Amino acid sequence: MYIDHIYDQAMNNLNWLKVDIDLPEGDFVKQILVGGKKLCLVKHQKELFVVQNHCPHAGGVLSGGWCKDGYLVCPVHRWQYNLHTGRGAEGQGDYIEMYPVEMRSDGIYVGFEKSWIEKLLGR
Ligand code: FES
Repeated sequence: MYIDHIYDQAMNNLNWLKVDIDLPEGDFVKQILVGGKKLCLVKHQKELFVVQNHCPHAGGVLSGGWCKDGYLVCPVHRWQYNLHTGRGAEGQGDYIEMYPVEMRSDGIYVGFEKSWIEKLLGR
């Protein structure tokens, strides 16, 4: 199928980096460092999400926030971001960057888009 081809191509354009973390039990919101970048790892209702760690509103630290009804809530002014789409709640007009995340047998991996030179060289 064409959709499968597009999906495979998108996944092949990622560098997958392992997250060095012992997973806590249950749901959590936690800062992680992966590939030299601070990100926010969220487990909410048995699903994992990785998103940017700074709030686009005024730079609050999203990993200090919490989840509510499928949204990540910033602890500073309580703006909310949909964990599946990254879109801000109605009226905010903003979004957060989402990263592909995979749970593998040896841990959690986060996908980062390859640089243009890596794509050019087929790495
Ligand atoms: S800094 Fe996050 S809502 Fe204002």
